Amino acid sequence: MSRLVVVSNRVALPTESRAGGLASAMQAALAEMGGLWFGWSGKIGDGECALRTEYSGNVEYALVDLSRTDYQQFYLGFANGTLWPLLHFRPSLLDYHREDFSGYCRVNRMFAQRLAPLLRSDDVVWIHDYHLIPLAAELRALGVAARIGFFLHIPLPPPELLTILPHHEQLFPALAGCDLIGLQTSSDREALLAYFRRQMQATVHADGSVEFPDGRRVEVDVFPIGIDAAKVAELARKAATSTATQRLVRSLEGRELALSVDRLDYSKGLPQRFEAVARFLTRHPEWRSRISFLQIAPPSREDVPEYRDLRSRLERIAGATNGRYAEPDWVPIRYVNRSFSQATLAGFYRVADIGLVTPLRDGMNLVAKEFVASQPPDDPGVLVLSSFAGAAEHLHEAIIINPLDPEDIVESFARALAMPLPERRERWRAMFEEVRRNDIAAWRTAFLQRLQA
Ligand code: F6P
Repeated sequence: MSRLVVVSNRVALPTESRAGGLASAMQAALAEMGGLWFGWSGKIGDGECALRTEYSGNVEYALVDLSRTDYQQFYLGFANGTLWPLLHFRPSLLDYHREDFSGYCRVNRMFAQRLAPLLRSDDVVWIHDYHLIPLAAELRALGVAARIGFFLHIPLPPPELLTILPHHEQLFPALAGCDLIGLQTSSDREALLAYFRRQMQATVHADGSVEFPDGRRVEVDVFPIGIDAAKVAELARKAATSTATQRLVRSLEGRELALSVDRLDYSKGLPQRFEAVARFLTRHPEWRSRISFLQIAPPSREDVPEYRDLRSRLERIAGATNGRYAEPDWVPIRYVNRSFSQATLAGFYRVADIGLVTPLRDGMNLVAKEFVASQPPDDPGVLVLSSFAGAAEHLHEAIIINPLDPEDIVESFARALAMPLPERRERWRAMFEEVRRNDIAAWRTAFLQRLQA
């Protein structure tokens, strides 16, 4: 059996308690096949950044620090200041600097140089996400012949947007160094194929493979990422009686609970959601004091200016909404800027009547799937889901809304609160079946089988 080599910007060490779904999936695949996980250590080093290795069972972790300049230009600058907004359909937020693009390319080259000597010819290399778009081509330039797959966790806009990026022709064509490119949704796949056709004169064959004029072939397909549904359901069952869940339930004093959990990111549509809450309370005074909106939003990428701006904006909106509608014994929006363990969140999801997942654009959105997996089958809550989350391609029984229209969100609250129990059960059963069937193990197995075929 081939050895698996996972490459991602962030590496989840087995000792880290807060490993998310993707991290657990990679750890399971690595443990099964044996292998190596390569990426940034999460640390900023000074001077020559050496490779550090750690071992756990049959898995090796190879970590490299970034210099301050690399962190600035590669991570904050090009990856999160340029690519993130562009790929999330927000060109007006795009901040482009040539030196950031050079830094991004330099770090990808440095990763390739550090990784190539560790590779064996029969390894299967799986590269993750937008930080590492040029990596496969850099590895090929160093003579690496192993099978290489790339999975993009975030959305991909059509060529009309991709081509506004200065030097896009030096970036996206580098994906041709892969054998397999995986995307979250069919529209992401269409976008990439259109770019390959128009910009690289590629031919798309009936079997879905792409052929470039130099004869190189790449497969491009959809692999929607999932969660460990069985584990989340079990965590939620256990957490139902945990202290944290019970404290939350007690604090509600019988009120309905609408819950959202998002990284504090402008792609998540938080201002529009807060605005919708205010409108709902204006339009439906009968619901004042009878529903609480809990927004859990751990801060993220705070060294990027747009993220700091968003935080202040949300503080203003939440403060204004609460100031306007709160009673001495009730606030409409409970706004919490910290993270919680997966188990604690599962308990919170389980007792929520509405799960509000309303991003402006999202690759998949695993919160939507975790909310579904956490529900009690006999009395499940209602999922309100943005049509611009990848999850909407599969969770048809959610109430699907357009997050740019606050009225749509307002109406979805009213619909969710009035939904009869048999309808809630029926919708939930269909969604749970989907989340269970296409779970994280199915995702990684499908991708790796295809890559090794
Ligand atoms: O969803 C994209 C992603 O980059 C994930 O890979 C990552 O876990 C998350 O966003 C958090 O971002 P960062 O690594 O920048 O903190």
